[in-house]
Amino acid sequence: MQCQLVYSMTPVPSSTASQPNTLGIIAPLQVTKMAASMVEKLMEKKAVTYTAAVVGVCATTYLIYKKIGGDTGFRTSITKLGNTGSLAREDFAAGIDAYNEFFQQSDGKGVGERKFNTPKFVDTFYSLITDFYEYGWGQSFHFAPRDKGESFDESIWRHEERIADQIKAGAGMHILDAGCGVGGPMRTIAKHSGANVTGITINEYQVGRCTEENKKAGLDTLCNIVQGSFLEMPFPANSFDGCYCIEAACHAPVLAELYKEIFKVLKPGAHFASYEWLTTPLYDSNNAEHVRIVDDIAEGNALPDVRSIPAALAAAKEAGFEVVFHGDYALGADIPWEQAMKTARRAAFLTDVLTKWMERFGLAPRGTWATHQMLLRAAEALERSGDLGIFTPMYLVTLRKPM
Ligand SMILES: C[S@@+](CC[C@H](N)C(=O)[O-])C[C@H]1O[C@@H](n2cnc3c(N)ncnc32)[C@H](O)[C@@H]1O
Repeated sequence: MQCQLVYSMTPVPSSTASQPNTLGIIAPLQVTKMAASMVEKLMEKKAVTYTAAVVGVCATTYLIYKKIGGDTGFRTSITKLGNTGSLAREDFAAGIDAYNEFFQQSDGKGVGERKFNTPKFVDTFYSLITDFYEYGWGQSFHFAPRDKGESFDESIWRHEERIADQIKAGAGMHILDAGCGVGGPMRTIAKHSGANVTGITINEYQVGRCTEENKKAGLDTLCNIVQGSFLEMPFPANSFDGCYCIEAACHAPVLAELYKEIFKVLKPGAHFASYEWLTTPLYDSNNAEHVRIVDDIAEGNALPDVRSIPAALAAAKEAGFEVVFHGDYALGADIPWEQAMKTARRAAFLTDVLTKWMERFGLAPRGTWATHQMLLRAAEALERSGDLGIFTPMYLVTLRKPM
């Protein structure tokens, strides 16, 4: 080895050095031979062979893992899966059990009178799943219709910019994001419009994550977040120039109550727009499969029930809003919203195995796998609802508080 190294470092005679072609071929050949013989010698040592095998297997698994993840999968480090949100590690298992029990449904009519306790369990839900969502989807916790040639991220941003345009968000305005998650939409909208955006979420863990990401993006002067319930807004009346709500109003026990709170904090003449999760006219409450799908969507997404389009419009009017626009953005997309769910679910099979083993070896808290199983069931139901066209997560309602 020693002599080979010395050999390779021997200066090339000047006559050869002046022939770049010879040098260009011979030198790499020598280096390859040297490397091969070094590897051969190293392989004679068993420990090195085993280490090389383990590194090889890990690298291959990682590459496959990234490949199946597609556009949506594996957005953060896998180590995030062991995080427990704002729940103490030892409370995680009890959290998912209580959650599953609360949201159990079977007749397509929601959780009944229990619905008034929904916010508490919505909070538990987001403590359990925020890291999963970030890991498997990204920082925007919503769907989007996708154009041909558009990436998943581009479709998400376009969907967010659309809602900002609906409420005419612009520089100098103060906009409310009702149910803001970890702030993916808030950051896009602040950049797109120049408006100041205040988000509200019921989940403490999301406040921490959002604050961190706002700082990282250099948007902490435009964006801020508060913890609280959008059913009891901690803001003065008539204080916002606009409000949007992305796939969050579906968690409200009574939609009109949420709309009334938003109405109260908006200035007269200001706009409010919401992407609602609703059943479509194709949903048939006498069809057992439709009912099961809707129940599974509600159970796996912390919903007290799933409402219809007429019910949402009635809630808007009850709150005092004028309806400016309403329509379903799921219709006519080049790539339908449920397609991304299908890709994510393919990746999720691997995550399912990983979470099971991480839990077994104590790398993730007890209950992590059960939480992932719950999310998988929800994903299947969402996909099927999209295929049948009985449900939409993007029914846009744009409303205005009268002058
Ligand atoms: C599906 S996530 C959507 C988050 C965000 N709009 C986005 O698109 O990334 C729903 C959000 O609504 C929030 N939420 C649900 N019920 C709430 C309540 N009563 N008060 C405040 N936020 C609530 C959750 O904490 C979560 O952040």
